[in-house]
Amino acid sequence: MLFYEGTYYWFGEHKVKGRKGNKAQVGVHCYSSTDLYNWNDEGIALSVKEDTSSLLERGCVIERPKVIYNENTGEFVMWFHHELKGRGYDAAMTGMAVSDNVTGPYVYKKSVNPNAGHWPENFTGEQKNADVQPEDLKSWSDEWKKAVKNGLFVRRDFEEGQMSRDMTLYIDDDGKAYHIHASEENLTLHISELSEDYKSFTGNYVRVQPGGHNEAPSIFKHNDKYYMICSGCTGWDPNAARLLMADSIMGKWEYLGNPCIGERKDITFDAQSTYILPVKGKKDAYIFMADRWRPKNPIDGRYVWLPIQFNDKGHPYLEWFDKWNLDFFDK
Ligand code: DGJ
Repeated sequence: MLFYEGTYYWFGEHKVKGRKGNKAQVGVHCYSSTDLYNWNDEGIALSVKEDTSSLLERGCVIERPKVIYNENTGEFVMWFHHELKGRGYDAAMTGMAVSDNVTGPYVYKKSVNPNAGHWPENFTGEQKNADVQPEDLKSWSDEWKKAVKNGLFVRRDFEEGQMSRDMTLYIDDDGKAYHIHASEENLTLHISELSEDYKSFTGNYVRVQPGGHNEAPSIFKHNDKYYMICSGCTGWDPNAARLLMADSIMGKWEYLGNPCIGERKDITFDAQSTYILPVKGKKDAYIFMADRWRPKNPIDGRYVWLPIQFNDKGHPYLEWFDKWNLDFFDK
């Protein structure tokens, strides 16, 4: 979701009727609204290619597209989780496309494994130099979990670039943009700084919750604290959401537990985090947006939107409402 000149633009994975599976047949679709209730169809913002030599060939996987606007260049920059045709979820890349118009057409530029040749800022010398390899250890053994925490996959991917699956983007108050992605085989989130034009990675990045096995990151800032709501990793099935808090975006993130309360709190109300939208013109108003995946018939996937509330400690929490509207934030 992007708010630009009085309008919300909603970007999403275009699904095709009667088509099973999660392969991109069309591209990224865009809708617009000035009130969050009534939506206009703005058509396809980014199209897959018929050209078999393009990484964006029809049949690849495009997930979780996000668009940010760069005030200095006047360009709209889209990033998305990109998997290559015929390679399952192995490529773990992030794709980038740009446009001068918010609704597109976006021109596909590249897909990368981020931060090749750079160590995370919060990596120790010992972690850089450890020589244990993934093949030396049994997956999910205690030694393996310890090695993962200590950067087993960061070292494996150091030269070629880090993995990037579920992702989101965030622009901080100073205009710097960050790409937040599930990396290290979905075992550790990375927060990576983007260049001034938002079109590449600077190489500055941090690991968040090493070995925490988090994905589906969504982020917002409230009262000088950064909050992230993400999920565990259970494929298309929902699980309990996870709340993290930090004083600075690249700073130390503290785990605060499950932000959901009430019935179905352990499956995030049958949904998975995707974005947190600050509502324009309303104070302390943030909408938690989540996906209800329906992998057998992806076009039947649904959305859950819930208002973020704050407890006595000032921390966010989520409860289910059968029905609510934006007046909720005026109470
Ligand atoms: C969960 C992720 O959050 C989704 O975006 C998608 O990648 C599925 N996993 C695939 O199983």
